[in-house]
Amino acid sequence: MKGLILSGGKGTRLYPLTFTSAKQLIPLSNKPVLFRVIEAIRDAGVDDIGIVIGDTGDEIRTAVGNGDRWGVNITYIPQDAPLGLAHAVKISHDFLGDDRFVMFLGDNVIQGGISPLIAEFANSDYNSQIVLTAVSEPQHYGVAELGADGQIVRLVEKPKDPPSNLALVGIYMFDNNIFKAVDAIKPSWRGELEITDAIQWLVENGYNVHPYIHRGWWIDTGKPNDMLDANSYVLEELTPKNEGYVDRSSDVDARVTIEAGAEIINSVIRGPAIIGKDTRIVNAYIGPFTSIHHDCLIENAEISRSIVLENSQIRNVARRIEDSLIGRNVVIHRSPIRPQSHKFTLGDNSVVGLLND
Ligand code: G1P
Repeated sequence: MKGLILSGGKGTRLYPLTFTSAKQLIPLSNKPVLFRVIEAIRDAGVDDIGIVIGDTGDEIRTAVGNGDRWGVNITYIPQDAPLGLAHAVKISHDFLGDDRFVMFLGDNVIQGGISPLIAEFANSDYNSQIVLTAVSEPQHYGVAELGADGQIVRLVEKPKDPPSNLALVGIYMFDNNIFKAVDAIKPSWRGELEITDAIQWLVENGYNVHPYIHRGWWIDTGKPNDMLDANSYVLEELTPKNEGYVDRSSDVDARVTIEAGAEIINSVIRGPAIIGKDTRIVNAYIGPFTSIHHDCLIENAEISRSIVLENSQIRNVARRIEDSLIGRNVVIHRSPIRPQSHKFTLGDNSVVGLLND
C-alpha cells in the first residue's frame, strides 16, 4: 500500500492565518494537522507517502522534509492549480503505479487513526473503501445514499437536498481502477474534478466500493471554529506530562501538558491544555481546551478554548479571551477603552491594542 496526502489549497476560510501559512501546518495541541495525518498513515503500516502540494508547497517541504523524522519516505507531487481531488489522483499516477493506496486530505483529523480501516481494505477484494460519518449539515460535504442492504446507491457532492446525513470523510482507499474513473469524469459546476464523481463512476460501472461507517469524531479543519473543536478533541486524548517548571503558588490540574523549558508562575491552568516549549505563563489563567505554542508569554491575562501560535504575547488584558485563534508573533496588550468580550481570528505578526477595563 502507498499513501497519498492532499495538501494544496489556499485555506481562504482561515484568512488571515493562511496568508502566511499553509492551513495544514496550523497546530492542534501544538502539532500541525499535516504531521498528525503523516503519523496516522505511518501507524497503519504505510511508509511510502506522496504529498500533493500547491501554492504553499515550499513551506510544506520545509516543514515536513524527506520524512526521516517519521521513518517514512516522502515524495512531493506539485499540482499547478487546485483542479480537484480527482485531478490530484490523476497527476499522482506515476508515484502510485498499480499499488493499492489510501488518500487522506491533509486538513482532516479523525479519532482513532486509520489502522483498522487500512487492515480491512488490505485484506479485502474491495476496489475502493470510503469512510462515512453522520453530520448535522451534510450539504457542505460529499453525501452517500445507502440501500437497505447497506451498500452504496449513489454519491453526490455538496447536494442542495441531501439524500442522507452521511458525509464522505476525507479518507479514501482505492485500487488502480480509480485511474479509469478519474479519466472518465468531467469537471463539476465548481470547475473541479470531484473524487465523489469518480467514486460514483466506480459504483455505476460495477466495481466493489465498500462504505465504512465511522462512529467517533471527525473534523475537516476548514474554518476557525472547526480548528478550535478539533483542538479540544485532540487535547482530550493527550497523555499529560510535565517537562517544565511549575512554581509553588501555581495550580495546574491533572490533564495539562507542559513542554520543556516552559514556566508557570503564580498561575492557574485547567486541562485539557498544553503549554509549549519555553513559554512563560505569569499571573494568568489558562484553559480548558487551550493550546499555547512555544516561546509565548501570557501575563496578567486569562484565556480559554483558544489556540495561540508561537512567539505571541498576551499581557495585562482585563477580560478573558475565549474562542480565539491567534497567529504567530501577535502582541495583545492593554489599551484604554473598555471591552466586554474578546473574539479574535488574528494573522501572523498582528498587534492588537485592547480596550481598557
Ligand atoms: C472534500 C470532498 C467532499 C468531502 C470533504 C471532506 O470537500 O469534495 O466530498 O466530504 O472534502 O473533508 P472540499 O473540502 O473540497 O470542499
